[in-house]
Amino acid sequence: MQPSDLGRDLEKVLIDEDAITAKVAELAAAIDRDYADRPVLLVGVLKGAVMIMADLARAMSLPVEMDWMAVSSYGSGTKSSGVVRILKDLDKDITGKHVLVVEDILDTGLTLSWLVRNLRSRGPASVQVCTFLRKPEAVKVDVPVAYLGFDIPNEFVVGYGLDYAERYRNLRVVGTLAPHVYGG
Ligand code: IMP
Repeated sequence: MQPSDLGRDLEKVLIDEDAITAKVAELAAAIDRDYADRPVLLVGVLKGAVMIMADLARAMSLPVEMDWMAVSSYGSGTKSSGVVRILKDLDKDITGKHVLVVEDILDTGLTLSWLVRNLRSRGPASVQVCTFLRKPEAVKVDVPVAYLGFDIPNEFVVGYGLDYAERYRNLRVVGTLAPHVYGG
């Protein structure tokens, strides 16, 4: 889905395809360097991280294992609450593994901080975080991020995996929606 396919529902493009591709290559190179001597297990957080997982893994030169978790952060509409529930757990045990959590966005940080704590309790060799986007102004809990794509303003964004009401995940850019889409 291209920005033009959204017509007037798209307010503005924050990150275009070229910027996404360049950043993914940069992140992949850094991860390749850091994990050259140990096997890495990429843990993608469904559903938002599907695009970054797929692109990142393919941009890397190292072989990776991939697993997925789905969590739901209780809350209404576009707000996160920090109460997290596992909807789909990992398929395999991560004891002794080097885990790299791949996330679409760190907003308040409540979801990721919970997830990292949960994964650490399972006895992995290491747990690091790669997040494609981060909203520094919204962060409530400090989550150490080893690999960061972009810091963005505190606005609700869609595209490149991120949705509003399950739509726009397949938009090829990251952008904001016009107020009328939210019924405003
Ligand atoms: P956090 O717990 O507040 O950091 O929120 C994490 C989750 O909220 C992300 O994994 C997204 O699924 C969702 N989220 C936060 N901000 C946005 C946004 O701007 N657009 C779409 N989803 C978002």
